[in-house]
Amino acid sequence: MTPALTQFGDQMSHLTGVRAIMKDIIETLRAGDGQSFINLSAGNPVILPEVEQLWRDCTTDLLNSSDYGEVVCRYGSSQGYEPFIEAVLADFNQRYGLSLTDRNILITPGSQSLYFFAANAFGGYAAGGQLKEIVLPLSPDYTGYGGVSLFPQALKAYRPTLDVDAPSHSFKYRPDFSQLEITKQTGFVLFSRPCNPTGNVLTDDEVNRIADLAAPHNVPVFIDSAYAPPYPALNFTGMTPVFRENTVHCMSLSKAGLPGERIGIALGDESIIQVLQSFQTNLCIHSSRYGQAIAARAIASGALADISEAVIRPYYQNKFAVLEDSLTSFLPKTAPWYLHRGEGAIFAWLWFDQLSATDRELYQQLKRYGVIVVPGNPFFPGLQEAWSHTQQCIRISLTATDEDIVQGIRHLATVVTELYAQQSSHSPVMAGSSL
Ligand SMILES: Cc1ncc(COP(=O)(O)O)c(C=O)c1O
Repeated sequence: MTPALTQFGDQMSHLTGVRAIMKDIIETLRAGDGQSFINLSAGNPVILPEVEQLWRDCTTDLLNSSDYGEVVCRYGSSQGYEPFIEAVLADFNQRYGLSLTDRNILITPGSQSLYFFAANAFGGYAAGGQLKEIVLPLSPDYTGYGGVSLFPQALKAYRPTLDVDAPSHSFKYRPDFSQLEITKQTGFVLFSRPCNPTGNVLTDDEVNRIADLAAPHNVPVFIDSAYAPPYPALNFTGMTPVFRENTVHCMSLSKAGLPGERIGIALGDESIIQVLQSFQTNLCIHSSRYGQAIAARAIASGALADISEAVIRPYYQNKFAVLEDSLTSFLPKTAPWYLHRGEGAIFAWLWFDQLSATDRELYQQLKRYGVIVVPGNPFFPGLQEAWSHTQQCIRISLTATDEDIVQGIRHLATVVTELYAQQSSHSPVMAGSSL
């Protein structure tokens, strides 16, 4: 049977961004043909024993408590499970000196759904027919933003400026405020901080500047804090969560060890939270309560924030150091490759300036060496202008073992050295010249 699809049906029945390439990766890993692969593509967080134990302990506590029936045998409020809401509000008010109330919070089934609600409540066509844009102020950014709007043309990403430190083979993206436009046309602004895929952390000043540009037009700014403090605290550089009247602080417990439980949290102005809550009620009534009940215990006791800082952050920060050392040891010193500054998240982002092979070709060549990375192009959703840089990057996951990272980078070095050597026999390569 081939059911007829509506425009929305057609739009939503396609996988976007990295999810499309993941299909190829899964098939490659499955087919195998006796070859074993070093998988540097995984987006799934590592199961860290201390973190798993925390969730076991909280589950035991829930099972032994009189709350159990209330949690799993009954519907609840569409806003979220009350003890969880109380724990998050108490923690944030105390930690950041805020005065948030239960009118400022919504719990969603994962944070991806939160962006879907926002994308279709604030982005897309308004009653008057004008297109309200979803502005991504710094591209590249999370590939999942590519699939959230029923009107993909609403997505508008801005090309960044690049701070390049050529001698140390490192660089950092910064928002290009000379280009960035936030106007009455803007539905809302969205960015991840720390950023998946690059590990970039926008500075507090940059975030405040974006919020300042949006405020006069009543434009909400959604700050995707899936990797931010206090949990999972996957920032390797100092950062302060920014709370303003027009900002919505969006969290996820997925990288704090609960991706299977699907818990997203939005903290923001009541007027925005109300809209998102109605959207959620219409869609799925409310988020599952079991995960919220165990997370309430881990947040109220302070254990989740502690384990984030003591276990989760150092684990990935050490992986980044292993990767950085391997790149420095094995990649050609004279070629124009650059590692994005590792400021957070669970990925590293590499840029091969002027490489004749595209990101997709590099991905295919690495597969032949038994190494799987993620090509960078799907991480530029909404970028409308042509930019060769979008085909010169790859994402490397920090979830592999140290040995796999070292071995994978050795193979990467072999492939890239060969590619640059072939090129330089035709024309000389100059660092940073295609910025
Ligand atoms: C930056 C970012 N935002 C949002 C999500 C979605 O997370 P979840 O729906 O599990 O909360 C992810 C998942 O990897 C992410 O990397």
